Amino acid sequence: MSSTPSNSSTPPARTIALMNQKGGVGKTTTAVNLAAGLAGLGRRVLLIDLDPQGHASLHLGAKEPEGDQPTVYDLLLDPGVSLAEVLVQARPNLALAAATTDLAGAEPELAGAPDKTLRLRRAIEAYQREQGPRAAEFILIDCPPSLGLLTLNGLSAVREVFIPMQAHFLALQGVGKLMQTVSLVGRTVNPHLHVTGVILCNHDASTSHSREVVADLDAFFTEARTQNVPWSKARVYRPAVRRNVKVAEAPSFGQTIFEYDKWCPGALDYRALAEAIAKEWDEVVSRLSAAASVVVPSAGPASSSPAASR
Ligand SMILES: Nc1ncnc2c1ncn2[C@@H]1O[C@H](COP(=O)(O)OP(=O)(O)OP(=O)(O)O)[C@@H](O)[C@H]1O
Ligand SMILES: [Mg+2]
Repeated sequence: MSSTPSNSSTPPARTIALMNQKGGVGKTTTAVNLAAGLAGLGRRVLLIDLDPQGHASLHLGAKEPEGDQPTVYDLLLDPGVSLAEVLVQARPNLALAAATTDLAGAEPELAGAPDKTLRLRRAIEAYQREQGPRAAEFILIDCPPSLGLLTLNGLSAVREVFIPMQAHFLALQGVGKLMQTVSLVGRTVNPHLHVTGVILCNHDASTSHSREVVADLDAFFTEARTQNVPWSKARVYRPAVRRNVKVAEAPSFGQTIFEYDKWCPGALDYRALAEAIAKEWDEVVSRLSAAASVVVPSAGPASSSPAASR
């Protein structure tokens, strides 16, 4: 796990794309509820809806953008539009870059541009520079179920990929292919990209089949530990998010699972996941600050002692 590059005024951010080419596996549900879970922990979160279906935006109850309010489409196509202009404050601590169906038109329009896969990354980097210490700590990107230019923009803009999936045999078969895809993207547009983990969605732990699939997934990632692959640090996150009708109902009310029913199994699972993800990041940040405080000998007397550099 690593962070986006930072300078002294920009804190590191954990940047994550929720990606799986397969449709209906829980990408959007996880992006929204993880973002809300992290925001509920008091973390500053930015959620980017990169899917022309606009489901993440709908899930958060975002209104159709009015008047001149730009969306992700404008962000990708118009160099004069900044991420700060696109963001709407969806909840306390949770800013949303919303998508509408016109985003479907972005892919053909971007096709000829030399920086066609880098537009989102540049917009996020500019935003982080502008915002400095106020920039988000967690940036989550909800990708569409395809590997077109929109997803490539998402994968270019992050360090980490989370793969939401359901534990069944066909999904298991697709994992290797998904990992190869990330590897390929890594080689072409983003050498920092790696898969951090799988999030099991809509999970039914009562069948022996799902238990076998999870065991196979664990074994797949354990085997990768010693290999030089972008998923060598990946794991299956716990808890799995249980199948829970409340999770499926919440979007139609424009509510996160915590607003819709904060004690239902889905809310408990997403809260536990958000806590785990925040904790992991705190550990990374404290390692980074410890490394930054290691003494670098310099010419000036003020910084020449270990105490002065802390
Ligand atoms: N834990 C859960 N319990 C019950 N239903 C769930 C759960 N997680 C997701 N769902 C439902 O599964 C369906 C697909 O979820 P979601 O829209 O998040 O998938 P997706 O991968 O984003 O889909 P797409 O590929 O179309 O973008 C939705 O109806 C959602 O409400
Ligand atoms: Mg989706």
